[in-house]
Amino acid sequence: MEVTIWPDSDSASVFAADIVDKQITKKPDSVLGVPTGGTPLKMYAELVKRHSEGNLDFRRVSTFNLDEYVGLDPTHPSSYAAYMRQNFLQYINIQFSNVHIPNGTATDLISCCNDYEKLIKNAGGIDLLFLGIGTDGHIGFNEPTSSFRSKTRLKMLTDQTRKDNSKYFKSMADVPEYVITMGIATIMEARRIVLLAFGKKKADIVAAMIEGPLASMVPASILQMHEKTMIILDDEAASKLTQRKYYSKLDKVIPD
Ligand code: PGA
Repeated sequence: MEVTIWPDSDSASVFAADIVDKQITKKPDSVLGVPTGGTPLKMYAELVKRHSEGNLDFRRVSTFNLDEYVGLDPTHPSSYAAYMRQNFLQYINIQFSNVHIPNGTATDLISCCNDYEKLIKNAGGIDLLFLGIGTDGHIGFNEPTSSFRSKTRLKMLTDQTRKDNSKYFKSMADVPEYVITMGIATIMEARRIVLLAFGKKKADIVAAMIEGPLASMVPASILQMHEKTMIILDDEAASKLTQRKYYSKLDKVIPD
């Protein structure tokens, strides 16, 4: 695990965008794994800016979203399909046939999950996958006790996650209980992983992920086992790390 600590989420997000930039420049038909939530918004804004300035071409890029709510149509304003359009996809020149988001309203949800795995394989696997982390340690929507060998499947959300995400809905009662999520094994198969975490409320779980034991109660701790993982933190999210000084001294190099 490579841990990089930045003074704030602005500088951290520019660095995250640099990683995407370098990846697409090196491999224009890169396959990206992409997250939703509050954390990656500044990274998406930076990528949109670079694209609008003519510096970043997404024409041959493919994306796979980590997850989607079951029961929300892509036109539902709180769906992750809507989030992706509003915050990123509508502003770049990606081909919509290259955009993949699990279909939360599929009549056969199990087949939809299995097909998602096949789509990732057929695309050649994920080159670079971005993650956020839930306050309960989830990655994607792999909630505590998720199997480390899990593939794309249906999951039930914890009350903590539903509460955290209720700000994107009219009320807590409107937050779906079920989701489709890439599994932990699906995530771990990505050739490179970058996890972003910002703010004080992530400090405890970030410390558990990086410095705690490998445990299914902290699904993100599995990243300790991935040989090409970078964790990008702002100062607040890094505040509970015992080795914080050591990580701060390390060079911040965009991985090749
Ligand atoms: P957040 O969500 O970016 O809104 O904090 C992260 C996550 O749930 O993975």
